[in-house]
Amino acid sequence: KILIHPDAARAAGAVADRIADLLAARPGAVLGLATGGTMEPVYAALIDRAGQGRFPAARFTSFNLDEYVGLGPDHPQSYHVYMRRHLFGPLGLPPGQAHLPRGDAPDLEAEAARYEAAIAAAGGIDLQLLGIGANGHIGFNEPSSSLVSRTRVKTLARKTVEDNRRFFGPGEPVPRHALTMGIGTVMDAAEVVLLATGAAKAQAVAAMVEGPLSASCPASILQMHAKATLVCDRAAAAALR
Ligand code: F6R
Repeated sequence: KILIHPDAARAAGAVADRIADLLAARPGAVLGLATGGTMEPVYAALIDRAGQGRFPAARFTSFNLDEYVGLGPDHPQSYHVYMRRHLFGPLGLPPGQAHLPRGDAPDLEAEAARYEAAIAAAGGIDLQLLGIGANGHIGFNEPSSSLVSRTRVKTLARKTVEDNRRFFGPGEPVPRHALTMGIGTVMDAAEVVLLATGAAKAQAVAAMVEGPLSASCPASILQMHAKATLVCDRAAAAALR
């Protein structure tokens, strides 16, 4: 399904509504969450809806897609801190319900296996939220990633490192590796909602929706998902035929 909204705020609001509706219907639902600039208005809208009493905010379980290798959970640029700042803190989510992979684990392979097992033990992901990279990545599954991959360490594409630079201070090193759910992990979610906003995503959106199914655009695998929704604004939809 493809939903095109006039602007980014309304697209983000629609995604927050879908999540709030799921949590209202099933308070213990398992969410797969994403980070990045695109998700900030989604989380702000979700906090609003929780404030309006539209769902019991403290009852869901979540698993984030990814974390930078080498950053501990208190590093200001870590996704742990991002999630506490933008969602878990304001919602008052009790610790232990919100999971992220540990990018500072001494054995990253064991951490990846532990993370996959934790998702399975929670009963799997009911709704996976995704953004998309300008190169078509989902999570940090960069072009050429195996379409059946599981959680593992990935080297970030040069373009992704450059795109992420804006979140780091001048001169601060930008991580080059991430621990990320695999494409197979994402495809196992019962439902997937991908949000894309802004003109910088237009080519990736067109390749995902209209291009061939190919590891050179990892998001194109979502053509094969039984319940996938693309929510975008007009700018991100501009290259669709
Ligand atoms: C982050 C993630 C990435 C981002 C993508 C878009 O957890 O999984 O795939 O969704 O890089 O990032 P923004 O929204 O910053 O353009």
